[in-house]
Amino acid sequence: MKRIRLTVVLIALWLPGCLFAQSADPKMDGFINGLMGRMTLEEKIGQLNLLSVGFDVTGPLLSQGVEAKVRQGRVGGVFNTYTPVAVRKLQRMAVQESRLGIPLLFGYDVIHGHKTIFPVPLGLACTWNPDLIERCARIAATEASADGLNWTFSPMVDIARDPRWGRIVEGAGEDPYLGAQIARAMVRGYQDGGLSRSNTLMACVKHFALYGAAEAGRDYNTVDMSRRQMYEYYLPPYRAAVEAGAGSVMTSFNEVDAVPSTANHWLLTDLLRDQWGFSGFIVTDYTAITEMSQHGLGDFRTDAELAMKAGVDMDMVSEAYLTHLPELVAHGDIPMSLINQACRRILEAKYRLGLFTDPYRGCTEERARAKILTPENRRAARTAAAKSFVLLKNDRQLLPLKKTGNIALIGPLADNQADLLGSWHAAGDWRSAVGVRTGLSNAAGSAVNVLYAKGANLVDDPALRKFLEQFGSPAPVDPRPPAELVAEAVAAAGRADVVVAVLGESAGLSGEAASRSELGLPDNQEQLLRALVATGKPVVLVLMNGRPLTLGWEAEHCGAMLETWFGGIEGGNAVADVLFGDYNPSGKLTTTFPRSVGQIPIYYNHKNTGRPAAGDPAIKYVSRYLDIPNDPLYPFGYGLSYTTFAYGEVKLSRTELSGAETLLASVNVTNAGTRAGEETVQLYLSQPAASVTRSVEDLRGFQKVFLQPGETREVTFRLTPNDLKFYNARLEYDWEPGTFVVRLGGDSAGGLKSAALTWNQAPAPAQRR
Ligand code: BGC
Repeated sequence: MKRIRLTVVLIALWLPGCLFAQSADPKMDGFINGLMGRMTLEEKIGQLNLLSVGFDVTGPLLSQGVEAKVRQGRVGGVFNTYTPVAVRKLQRMAVQESRLGIPLLFGYDVIHGHKTIFPVPLGLACTWNPDLIERCARIAATEASADGLNWTFSPMVDIARDPRWGRIVEGAGEDPYLGAQIARAMVRGYQDGGLSRSNTLMACVKHFALYGAAEAGRDYNTVDMSRRQMYEYYLPPYRAAVEAGAGSVMTSFNEVDAVPSTANHWLLTDLLRDQWGFSGFIVTDYTAITEMSQHGLGDFRTDAELAMKAGVDMDMVSEAYLTHLPELVAHGDIPMSLINQACRRILEAKYRLGLFTDPYRGCTEERARAKILTPENRRAARTAAAKSFVLLKNDRQLLPLKKTGNIALIGPLADNQADLLGSWHAAGDWRSAVGVRTGLSNAAGSAVNVLYAKGANLVDDPALRKFLEQFGSPAPVDPRPPAELVAEAVAAAGRADVVVAVLGESAGLSGEAASRSELGLPDNQEQLLRALVATGKPVVLVLMNGRPLTLGWEAEHCGAMLETWFGGIEGGNAVADVLFGDYNPSGKLTTTFPRSVGQIPIYYNHKNTGRPAAGDPAIKYVSRYLDIPNDPLYPFGYGLSYTTFAYGEVKLSRTELSGAETLLASVNVTNAGTRAGEETVQLYLSQPAASVTRSVEDLRGFQKVFLQPGETREVTFRLTPNDLKFYNARLEYDWEPGTFVVRLGGDSAGGLKSAALTWNQAPAPAQRR
């Protein structure tokens, strides 16, 4: 008896991930052991196959013969299929017509809402409000799960410092600290503390890793980065999402250290599993396995072998696993234990989602009707949108507008519903979106006369327009010549007290495979704006776009500028809320707005260099441009309000600390204006001297305070040695004693109040992270 037990233990140790693997859930283990004991090799490989079928195509290939493969048990999951009818049909096929009746995963890109579409992720991040973002993710999960889905390819947590990259719109911006908080919030919102409730979605953290650092901002391009840079700035949000319990991780299209992520054993196994302890499953991005041939790693069979050995469990669309794994196992190139391990991970996810108990997770048309696009969800979308807008400029309090007089409402995005949804709009229907024109007339009342003119199409270049019609905006094109459109708009402006110009990108100009080399407004819109400004009427520029734009001329000539990103289905109402002052804007940028494309990459947490630019432009041999300043047009953290906030001096509880003590850093913030408003108080930390060079500052805390006019509140942050930590030259996550500077203020640049302190005495032995 003893000997038998010993043998079992030895087998379990010897073949990790084999048939007898153990998790913390013995009931689940027992169930999966039993099931896997009955599975053939082909059926196990089938679980590793993810196919696209249904409503959307998000890559260059479409899966074929899906239904037959489902019946044969050669599919583990599908994506792009939703609605109770479609999901039930396919799921019934899997559970009733395949030999073992294993249910399918149903995935989808629920990125910023399912049918109630919230602002694009970059906009949501500008709320600096993880609780609100968690609520949005919760609503998205409630709607999507009612529509039959159980898995979302979100959160996208790629740090991006290059706005040429169109997918900057899908992430939280450039900062790892804020990015990590948002990543956690989204995982919590989707998974709601576990997956057993049927109104949850399994999260998928993507794109692992470093996808946002594509060279020259061109999508899918090469990434090359030092380990230190990865650990310090790019990896924290992925890790935060993993620690929050995300059930799955998606590989990225790019290479990491000359090995595509999908074949990168160091990334997927050494780092993600062994160092971070990730226990969910890893799925590739769309056809990423077969794309490794183009990267230069060999034929499809080799690619499949490399991906499996690196730690990829599930193959999205390429079917390289389905095609080559049987042969690779037969020839002994892939051990059976790897197949068992990957299969087990997929089955565990299904078990945790409760699919073996109810493969439909209670999705019915009735539930979908009750849960989707409810007035309450729409209200949440409106609030989120208003909070995501960033007031960039407001000369002489041009905003908020009075609810009287004539407003000329101009621009291709002024009476446009489709683009409001942004580039990943999932199941969102643009017809349910409220455009700005409707929003303004809903809010304005009878004393306001809105004079609308389109003024320009989104773009005039015929080739680009055709492309966008195919992949982007279905917004109708006005066939009149550009000059006639402008003349009509100028005439409307002439009759108005104020011009509201709603300009920017069409939704398809950002997002996947939508990189741009110039980041200004499209030429025709720029010309329209210049003509409007030339009328001498005050111009409020309402911007819609999925990335930072270069807006130097606009900032000089428009009286006010409001960045509204793509605000989602309630975008138009939210724009009206802010323009009329029913909501006082509080959003803050989470990506730097450059003056010029030539400054890119530009980000707040840069290094000082040995020759930092000095104030005097006559000085040579310093790190600067001859033709423009180094600093951005709008820095990270920036955003105005209809009121102003005054900061007192920074007060430190001590200026000398040692070891594991706690520092309290406080500042008095006063609402110095006449309207109630919300400020995001930001704490930046720097260490001017350390064993490796550090950024000039790093965000280490933020708090939101809502203040009545004249009200003062003391805002206090607690810092411990944990907040001082960074990756040193040996890649140890540790802190070093020395001098530190704490800066507190309303953005990363202007007018921060600061105080210095010393923190002595290194802690006990360094810990590796
Ligand atoms: C994108 C992913 C997405 C996947 C499935 C890919 O092209 O890179 O972000 O989740 O398609 O739609």
